[in-house]
Amino acid sequence: MAEPSWLEKKIAENAQAGESQPWTLDLSKPSVARVYDYLLGGHNYFEVDRAAADALNAKYDNGATEVCVTNRRALQRAVRYLAAEAGIRQFIDIGSGLPTQENVHEIAHQLDPTARVVYVDKDPIVLAHGRALLADNRTTSVAQADATDPDSILDSPDTTDLVDLDKPWAVLMASVLHHLTDSEDPAGVTRRLIERMPSGSYLFTVNLLREDHPQADAQLEAEVVSQVGSGYMRTWDQLRAYYEGLEMVEPGLVYANEWRPTDPTKAEGPWATVLVAGLGKKP
Ligand SMILES: C[S@@+](CC[C@H](N)C(=O)[O-])C[C@H]1O[C@@H](n2cnc3c(N)ncnc32)[C@H](O)[C@@H]1O
Repeated sequence: MAEPSWLEKKIAENAQAGESQPWTLDLSKPSVARVYDYLLGGHNYFEVDRAAADALNAKYDNGATEVCVTNRRALQRAVRYLAAEAGIRQFIDIGSGLPTQENVHEIAHQLDPTARVVYVDKDPIVLAHGRALLADNRTTSVAQADATDPDSILDSPDTTDLVDLDKPWAVLMASVLHHLTDSEDPAGVTRRLIERMPSGSYLFTVNLLREDHPQADAQLEAEVVSQVGSGYMRTWDQLRAYYEGLEMVEPGLVYANEWRPTDPTKAEGPWATVLVAGLGKKP
């Protein structure tokens, strides 16, 4: 039998101590954070999450796994670029997900152990897990907040205790804006973040694209939304709008595998044209 996950152990510990969970768990529905963790080979998921991920993979030729792995690798390359080449020492990772291998702070700390990282996610399990993992870490924090309210993220003490907002910072939004509906106005969210950035700051995003892959249609979107609750594909023009007022760092807004690849053969996966990444710099 597999070793129980951190999540299962924590729930068992709380039950033994007669304590209720510090979060509300609805096990009838998958959570994006837990489905993503499962697809990346993590252990913090429940049966409902596994079933949703497996159903998508079965229907779409392992596309869910490919998209998640592609996304995570692009994020890691972006953090490496920002820390090593752009000199960024402050990161705000919105929709950060459950801690996995090679987290943002681990990459940033390889270059500078004093680099600051604020993880933000709306899923309470991310908060509980992150706080347990980062309890002794003075350069990293984790906050529960919603991406749709950038001011509440930037003004929260979780952020301001670590990040000097008057000095350049990078916002990372990897595979989170496509979980916002049109009425939640993802372009408005990035516009507000960009307004608040000082010159020399960066925005990195990765998003689902509806235009290029032959199967990236309304049916696929409906399937993703029905399995995991959200996941909206957008057009190149909609994705470009996230960067208004920024200068794009080479190679611009491109398929995620082609964003500063370290292993170009990865670009050949069958789902390579459904995920787009880009990094913009505030002049
Ligand atoms: C696919 S995961 C991506 C995790 C991480 N950014 C990465 O690229 O490895 C998406 C994450 O966004 C979070 N999320 C979705 N909608 C959100 C919102 N409105 N505000 C904050 N987090 C959100 C989910 O809980 C999940 O953890």
